Amino acid sequence: MMTILLSGCSEKILFAKDNSEQSEALPDTYKNDSKPTEQKQNNVEHTEQPGVKSPDESSKPQEEEAPTPPADTPSAKNNNDSIQVVFNPESIPVLVNKQNKLPDSYNPNDLVYTDIPFISGTTDEKRKMRQVAASAINQLFADAKAQGISLLGVSAYRSHATQTTLFNYYVNRDGYEKARTYSALPGTSEHETGLSIDVTGGDGKCAAENCFGGTPEAIWLEQHAEEYGFIIRYPQGKESITGYQYEPWHLRYVGKEIALEIMNKGISLEEYHNEEPVSN
Ligand code: DAL
Ligand code: ZN
Repeated sequence: MMTILLSGCSEKILFAKDNSEQSEALPDTYKNDSKPTEQKQNNVEHTEQPGVKSPDESSKPQEEEAPTPPADTPSAKNNNDSIQVVFNPESIPVLVNKQNKLPDSYNPNDLVYTDIPFISGTTDEKRKMRQVAASAINQLFADAKAQGISLLGVSAYRSHATQTTLFNYYVNRDGYEKARTYSALPGTSEHETGLSIDVTGGDGKCAAENCFGGTPEAIWLEQHAEEYGFIIRYPQGKESITGYQYEPWHLRYVGKEIALEIMNKGISLEEYHNEEPVSN
């Protein structure tokens, strides 16, 4: 089932020459495990324009101003007209995507350090996850290791400020439209929920890069992530629904029951929530 798709680039990295040669040398400026009912878990309370400025940018150095979407592009239309603020950001299966953003003031209040090894240079912030997700990833890594699969963390929790810097970097490097295909606008990144983590193989060579696809580690994750409550959040073949390129390295904690349903059915989180496909 797993095939390799070579497209796009990673989300973690700055100061790179191109999409395939990036390092984790980022500036430090840069989220009840209950089964949802029939009702959507991602109800929203109101709409607003996506905040691209960090709420705490006055206290954290920022490399540059956050970009303003071009006024007449489809993405700008999407951002401005249809993005909604989720009212239940702390919900484990919460849907955060290009059309559903976190409240500007949201910070997960149960972040803890994971026990897993990370690639070198990973900031303290990015080694954290929400408690339930951290416990799950600790177990996943331990069991993988026992089965001969060596994994490293790349980037887990990212604050709004961190995501802002990261997204800005990609916009400057690749332009707004391209950046939007692989990096989330601040407020719309799952990394801000504390429930997602990017991982790579033990050699660290394909950290959040397309070459991770098809590796034994990626295949193991495809086959076992759901046993620990994780899904491959941006699956191959679902790009037009998730709005993002295939990311075999991006794991999202949703709890075991939901993860099993999603992975066994081969659906995306959007489809699980009966949400409309995300248009770029
Ligand atoms: N790469 C994913 C979409 C993010 O930036 O959160
Ligand atoms: Zn990710």
